[in-house]
Amino acid sequence: MSTVMSTPSIRSFVVDDRDKGRFRVNRRAMVDPEVLALERERVFDRCWLYVGHESEVAAPHDFRARTVAGRPLIFTRNGDGHVQVFINSCTHRGALLCRSKAGNGRFLRCFYHAWTFDTSGKLVALPDEDAYGPSFDREELGLGAPPRVESYRGFWFVNYDADAVDLVTYLGSAAPVLDLFCDQGLEDGLEILGGTHEYSLRANWKLLVENSFDGYHAMPTHQRYMEMVQASGVDLSRRFGPSPDGLPRSWARELGNGHGMVGGTAGLGRDLPEGRAKAYDAARRARYRELFGPERAREMNGSRNLLIFPNLIVIDLVMGMVVRTFEPLAPDYQHVTAWQLAPRNEDPELHALRLDNFLTFWGPGGLATPDDVEALECCQRGFAAAKELAWSDISRGMLKAHPNSTDELQMRTFWRRWDQLVNGTAMSYEHRDA
Ligand code: FES
Ligand SMILES: [Fe+2]
Repeated sequence: MSTVMSTPSIRSFVVDDRDKGRFRVNRRAMVDPEVLALERERVFDRCWLYVGHESEVAAPHDFRARTVAGRPLIFTRNGDGHVQVFINSCTHRGALLCRSKAGNGRFLRCFYHAWTFDTSGKLVALPDEDAYGPSFDREELGLGAPPRVESYRGFWFVNYDADAVDLVTYLGSAAPVLDLFCDQGLEDGLEILGGTHEYSLRANWKLLVENSFDGYHAMPTHQRYMEMVQASGVDLSRRFGPSPDGLPRSWARELGNGHGMVGGTAGLGRDLPEGRAKAYDAARRARYRELFGPERAREMNGSRNLLIFPNLIVIDLVMGMVVRTFEPLAPDYQHVTAWQLAPRNEDPELHALRLDNFLTFWGPGGLATPDDVEALECCQRGFAAAKELAWSDISRGMLKAHPNSTDELQMRTFWRRWDQLVNGTAMSYEHRDA
């Protein structure tokens, strides 16, 4: 084991006391560069990691430059219509091939010495090929690729571990939750809308995992937004108060392999204004009932924040779906990318409202994200005293039979898997409601 294990007081970063209902995480996990080095090796080099959605490379020869676990990648669709992922590095002497974030082109030409590849990764041309000897073989010098590339319903992932389990096995019980998003595409499917959010924050990446499905913070941290929603005429107590049918208003679930979620019967946002978009939305939701039955439609029409371990978040909470992923750059620094996902070919008015909401609620200058960034950076600043105040408490709801979205079961399921991968500790479920 590496040097992180040499501190005798910590064999694991997690204290999981089921009898007392106490769960604590050592803050060193949030500040120590050696922990990040272990995470890179044992989490990011072994887990399935999100690259992009198929709609982002809709046409042949579309490409997107992506960074996944530090590696530069090209996410593209070749001339035959197949989605492919390559290493964004020239096989000659390493230069990035795609230096723009997105585009369309039959050929990727390296700007350094002009080696040229097609969108199937083949080396198709290079200047002065005669200078190489007879053993020079273009076939061998095609683009490299991550050892594993697989997709689930349009969501594409890579794995840098050639021996990893297949993606569907890895997703396990998270796959049917992802279906609740995908099925909203009905016949036409889903698409990522133009307008990516990119921002960085001075906080450990695991703080954003926690925050992304933390119902407990919503009222205090986003108080101003909640006041605004109420001022628009929404009665929040009707949405979140006791339910007339006696069924739970919200829930938290552990989905295996570190995946987890919170869900609820209602979203957070303002109601749609009366008019065409609202009528279209109601008709679409009625179709869910026809196609999938009342129980599943109820779940589809509710809200959910899903974590696919370790760093893919898919949220359906405030008018539209958000896909978010983040990359640690240092123990206290991360880069975040987020996209809006919507049913393809939907009503243009609803489409415009979604885009507006994506900007004004989820955007880095929106009504929610700056609050969250401040909260997370504030935690990170508190962790400067991690030696003196070593433990964070994540016990909420631990002795409950039915934890809800303001509890912390979903975070504990992440941390148990994280500690299992990083430190080899054993994992067992609290509820395994799946
Ligand atoms: S590094 Fe790309 S052609 Fe030389
Ligand atoms: Fe938040």
